[in-house]
Amino acid sequence: MSSGMLPENLVASKVTDIKGDGKCNLDQIGNELLEKMENIEAMSKRQRKKLMKQKQWEEQRNLRKQKRKEKRLKRKQERQSQLESSNDGSFRKRLRRDVVPSTLRLIIDCSFDNLMELKDVKKLHKQIQRCYAENRKALHPVQFYLTSHGGQLKDNMNETDKGWVNWKDIHIKSEHYSELMKKEDLVYLTSDSPEVLNELDESKAYVIGGLVDHNHHKGITYKRAQEEGISHAQLPLGIFVKMNSRKVLAVNHVFEIILAFLEKRDWEEAFFTVLPQRKGAKPLNETTEATMCKRQKSEMVQGVADVTELLRANFHGQLNHFSYLAMHFKNEVAG
Ligand SMILES: C[S@@+](CC[C@H](N)C(=O)[O-])C[C@H]1O[C@@H](n2cnc3c(N)ncnc32)[C@H](O)[C@@H]1O
Repeated sequence: MSSGMLPENLVASKVTDIKGDGKCNLDQIGNELLEKMENIEAMSKRQRKKLMKQKQWEEQRNLRKQKRKEKRLKRKQERQSQLESSNDGSFRKRLRRDVVPSTLRLIIDCSFDNLMELKDVKKLHKQIQRCYAENRKALHPVQFYLTSHGGQLKDNMNETDKGWVNWKDIHIKSEHYSELMKKEDLVYLTSDSPEVLNELDESKAYVIGGLVDHNHHKGITYKRAQEEGISHAQLPLGIFVKMNSRKVLAVNHVFEIILAFLEKRDWEEAFFTVLPQRKGAKPLNETTEATMCKRQKSEMVQGVADVTELLRANFHGQLNHFSYLAMHFKNEVAG
């Protein structure tokens, strides 16, 4: 029935009324009918509105989903930065102010993409994320480059970490490094080189092979540097460290060692600040041993501080007694 039509039973009842006692006033009946018609029209208007609202709600479903996602991400970032700033905040703030970027270019050469299985590409992606984070909080951040960026790595970054397009202080290029840098500036870092790096020349561009290969492609970066006729060098690991395993390090460890050296100007300290225990790195002399103890102690202090802050951020004072114990432990270790 359209909203402009009268329902049949309504008309019939009015006609009966007129016929019944004959006292009915036609104007009155007309008014009543008009009123009822308006009610019907009003009802259908409401229904129409309701329908429209429902439709809008449906149409905006994706928008709402996206907004919720953005809100979640924002909250996560806020929590993260809160944690970072409260984690020994004054110290970090002092570091921030003292940041002096290095002119040294540090390149991760991503041209080995087709030699890796997806699971290793994912590992490389994590290592790159780590390099990025470490460089952002370094006292002397390097000029960070990812070159030959593409293939599986780029796909994986797009899938799992879309935010990479907004990364700051990094040059992400699809070109090969030889198209971006002068040949004489390039030094390929490779554990197979007979040359040992003594100092870092901040006018140079050091290249790290973006490869997670479990040593399946032994010597590949050394060969490549030779083919391209560019300089190469290994880190001076052998001078300071006795290793359980081979001297082949992961991309992020090499990256972090360079950052640590720029800060400390001391290879020994740089190695023991960065290298994980499971690499079996052992000191070659007593000074190094002392450095290691210092590092282990500071790692423990940092670890306890991190846990405390994490609990504080997540449990809002519900774990006061735990925080107290943790702080107590931290002071014991630090003392
Ligand atoms: C996991 S390794 C890749 C090993 C690969 N088979 C190769 O031949 O380079 C990742 C990269 O870290 C750098 N690297 C690892 N250990 C190093 C060392 N002891 N000295 C200098 N660079 C090193 C190299 O650039 C290397 O390509």
